[in-house]
Amino acid sequence: MYSEKVMDHFMNPRNQGEITDADGVGEVGNPTCGDIMRIFLSVKENIITDVKFQTFGCGAAVASSSMATELIKGKTLEEAWEVSNKAVAEALEGLPPIKMHCSVLAEEGIHKAINDYRIKQGLPPWEEKAGHHHGHDDGTCET
Ligand code: FES
Repeated sequence: MYSEKVMDHFMNPRNQGEITDADGVGEVGNPTCGDIMRIFLSVKENIITDVKFQTFGCGAAVASSSMATELIKGKTLEEAWEVSNKAVAEALEGLPPIKMHCSVLAEEGIHKAINDYRIKQGLPPWEEKAGHHHGHDDGTCET
């Protein structure tokens, strides 16, 4: 049911691990399935110079976080903020519909990590776009 890209990122995750002196950390969880994702950012002059993730969750969540870290590495914070879960899923050559919500964790994790960085810098956190769906109330999350 998974594309080759998903399987590749699941079996050989990129940027897995932890940055102990991270400039921003985001932790998100999916209350339905209990999966957890942490994103660690190193930021220099508004550029994400390093990013790592820890994901305790399903294969799609691991693959999404791996791909998401690749997409935002070297990007400005503004560019990284714009990386949507859809972009992550597209880069993975698609996710099965019942697994789309797993990629939402990656987008949320990046947003939390960026805002953690901004708050630490004394800057106001960025707001999520209106109408952005962050819920997992569609009953599609597997345990
Ligand atoms: Fe929970 Fe994928 S993140 S099933």
